Amino acid sequence: PRLAKYVDELPVLPRRALGGDIVMAEARHQFHRDLDLVPSWGYDGLSHLGPTIEAVRGEQTPTTFVNGLGRHVLWRDIDRQLHGASELDRTHPPAVVHLHGAPNRPSADGHPMAMSRPGGRVTHAFGTDMEAAGLWYHDHAMGTTRLSLYAGLAGMFLLRDEFDTGERDNPLGLPTDEYEVPLVLTDKLFYPDGRLRYQGTPTVAQDEWAGGLCGDVMIVNGKAWPRLQVDRGVYRFRTVNAAQLNDYRLELSNGQPFWVIGSDGGLLDAPAHVAELDIAPGERYDVLIDFSSLEPGEHVDLLNTMRISWAGKLIGAVQVPNVMRFVASADRGRHRSIPDTLRGGTRQPARLPAVQTTRRVRTATLNAFLDRKNIRWISTGVMNMNNLTYADPEIEAPVQGTTERWDFVNCDWTIQIHSMHLHLVQFRVVGRQDLNVARYMRDNPPPALGRRWAPAPDRYLRGAAELPAPYEAGWKDTVRCPRGQVTSVIVRWPTADELGFDPDAPFTTPQGGTEQGYVWHCHVIDHEDHEMMLRLRITAPGQ
Ligand code: C2O
Ligand code: CU
Repeated sequence: PRLAKYVDELPVLPRRALGGDIVMAEARHQFHRDLDLVPSWGYDGLSHLGPTIEAVRGEQTPTTFVNGLGRHVLWRDIDRQLHGASELDRTHPPAVVHLHGAPNRPSADGHPMAMSRPGGRVTHAFGTDMEAAGLWYHDHAMGTTRLSLYAGLAGMFLLRDEFDTGERDNPLGLPTDEYEVPLVLTDKLFYPDGRLRYQGTPTVAQDEWAGGLCGDVMIVNGKAWPRLQVDRGVYRFRTVNAAQLNDYRLELSNGQPFWVIGSDGGLLDAPAHVAELDIAPGERYDVLIDFSSLEPGEHVDLLNTMRISWAGKLIGAVQVPNVMRFVASADRGRHRSIPDTLRGGTRQPARLPAVQTTRRVRTATLNAFLDRKNIRWISTGVMNMNNLTYADPEIEAPVQGTTERWDFVNCDWTIQIHSMHLHLVQFRVVGRQDLNVARYMRDNPPPALGRRWAPAPDRYLRGAAELPAPYEAGWKDTVRCPRGQVTSVIVRWPTADELGFDPDAPFTTPQGGTEQGYVWHCHVIDHEDHEMMLRLRITAPGQ
């Protein structure tokens, strides 16, 4: 459908504290004023997405998540061949809530196997012992995450501390109340009547699973290309890329620069002044935009200028070049200035620690496994890390208290970006370097799927090492891994003492199974659902 842009107001997602029940349920939602009300999922009574949950560092308030879902909104798109998926998922959709980026104990991490069926009630006390950060929560059920997120099961989670109180009186003078706006960005496809349509891009297709979805309608907080009336002053946008596949490059239409003040896991040392910002699925950025130079009634648009080409054709995010519009009101905003520094003052948190050097290096290959008997231009493929699948017993098991460098080698023969996420921890990006993929693959041909394959990329690196952009140099839990590059991060695995719980404790799932540990995965959600997720245990020293 051809839809007019900037005609709907940006929805203000309601805020709530932890505690009580949060029910997941179907409702009817209108994505655009010219579309019908259609079936959608939301948390806590919302027709799409969930409320912005606010919590204070260290808070342990238990919250009960109730699976109140009926038949899956996207029941036709359930792919029963995916690991963990079954016919039952169509009529009795599984659900489990993960608070992304938080130091959750294993039993409260929203482990993909810890899902419950309709009628299930699961009480979680999320881990909140970390600096103030813009986290997000979303469904994580094995084999259906891509569909349940697309249907609406996601929301923002703002964690506060004494430096970022979320109240008018805050030491950094950051915008609050209506001047602090969560933006949940995604792109979708629709049928002419407005129903959600799920159709993957045909790079690697297998039955219903089709490799990743690129929408042609940008959706912000549940509305197509919305508009927001802004006072002429500084706003704080808590931004998450909740898309299925696309990474976005955000820019303002008048070329005006803006400031990034925080990344996935908290504040940067100082605001990064930028003209554009890359954000991949699962990443969050905390952004200040100053609208004070606009005339009343004047507008400025948020654009997505990311371009991806494959075999000479532009694909992907080029389909959603427009994001939303800001229209200036006649009023002056309450916030007029940008802090010079976010850390290091007496009323501010200490500087970010320097990126340490480390002893142990782990290589992780990011690839699509091709069934060579079945090559068509649409090929049967399985996404994977290290050539392994979720069920493989060989898993990463770093030791508590150690620091490691992880080299994510995106040698994928498809053009896809991968967006790598480690549960439990916040890490730091060391940088990226180009890889001679053809030589790397020729010298080290991958074996059959299920046998570990992670050759060291060192001999195949070329060009200069790129440092992370200043906005990417803070705490991260998810990192863009562009094709043909090695992206390196440094991670310190916390100890049980530091966490206040045993990160390797076994637990019983609502389904009655036993699990242990966490997962790491690509946040391209279709990849995550099709083997690009592996188990992760953080083991006690000397085990
Ligand atoms: Cu945002 Cu494992 O998830
Ligand atoms: Cu991926």
